[in-house]
Amino acid sequence: MLVLGIESSCDETGAAIIQDGRYLRSNVVASQIEIHNRYGGVVPEVASRQQLASIIPVIETAMEQAGCDWKDISAVAATYGPGLAGSLLVGLTVGKTLALAQDLPFLGVNHLEAHIYANWLRKGEEPQPVADWRYQPGDPVFPLLCLIISGAHSELVLVREHGHYELLGQTRDDAAGEAFDKVARILGLGYPGGPAIQKAAEQAEEEMRRQNRPIRDARKAYRMPRAWLRGTYDFSFSGLKTAMLHLAEGVTNTPPETRPSVTTKQISRYARMGAHAAQQGAPDVGLLAAGFQEAVVDVLAVKTRWAAEEYQVKQVVLAGGVAANTRLRERLSEELTPLQLPLSYPPIEFCTDNAAMIASAAYFHLCRGERHQLDIDVVPGLSL
Ligand code: KG4
Ligand code: ZN
Repeated sequence: MLVLGIESSCDETGAAIIQDGRYLRSNVVASQIEIHNRYGGVVPEVASRQQLASIIPVIETAMEQAGCDWKDISAVAATYGPGLAGSLLVGLTVGKTLALAQDLPFLGVNHLEAHIYANWLRKGEEPQPVADWRYQPGDPVFPLLCLIISGAHSELVLVREHGHYELLGQTRDDAAGEAFDKVARILGLGYPGGPAIQKAAEQAEEEMRRQNRPIRDARKAYRMPRAWLRGTYDFSFSGLKTAMLHLAEGVTNTPPETRPSVTTKQISRYARMGAHAAQQGAPDVGLLAAGFQEAVVDVLAVKTRWAAEEYQVKQVVLAGGVAANTRLRERLSEELTPLQLPLSYPPIEFCTDNAAMIASAAYFHLCRGERHQLDIDVVPGLSL
């Protein structure tokens, strides 16, 4: 079964054709990073206009690259939430229109569920016959624990079976990716913040290695706070963000109760200050990045291990843009290896927003006989 998937929830425009929910026939993504970089984050109005400009060429390219015709396609799927309303509307409307015009079933997909299904995608594998849609050798095994960490979400989800999700915990304030993006602004490292912080941290670690010092010295140079929120599987990263601001400001000796609360204006001010420090090649920026990354990754890895033990899962999978972080992957395998628990994560291009994961998630719904009427609307605040 070939499904055309469409993704337009934020600042990436994607179209992909996926066979049997797993095998790639094409996967095209047009990114707006260059445009939003100028503003230090995604500007919703700009994002939706850009979606409009990209969506048709992206779909045409995906059809062309898959070398298929409309008669080969079994269904059309598009993200209907969560995300930016204006951006979502573009992909959903185009998807519904194509389904109507080609007389194909339509399925609206939850973007968060799709991030989980990125783990079913296989890169560079020839399509194989699928005897049972539920399981193909090489697929993740249920029950599994999924850590979804993206620009807008940090969630621990127990997946007992296809389509059965139990939310164990979520962020109480900033999402992990949002924290990476804001802290990168504070340090003047640009947008998107995740890859920039990872790179700065790696450079600081490399510098330690050059000096024949253990690389953990880079991670420990600035000891950052960790919010464990024991007794829950929730996360909180806003305290860490504030600590970063104060470190950047050099007022870490001020007692916490007398520290000013952080405003957007301050973030902009420190963004300029950090940009200056980064330009000067100040070593502190790398050490701050390494300390921050370590604090985020530590909490994510340890709490994931706690949940995996409590719920006796057979596998742990990562999903979402922050899953691209190499230190997180490394740290989480350190936690899970003693438990002999397999960890899997999608190749980087399937971690960040893409349409292949949308088509994959849609396939499993379609196999259960589900589809949507064409009056389905966008749901910007959709949850799992
Ligand atoms: O899943 P995604 O592409 O979009 C959303 O659905 O939000 O995630 C984007 C987020 C951004 O916050 C970005 O900074 C973060 O993923 N990210 C990373 C890395 N690559 C992307 N965070 C940490 N390390 C990375 N290597
Ligand atoms: Zn996403």
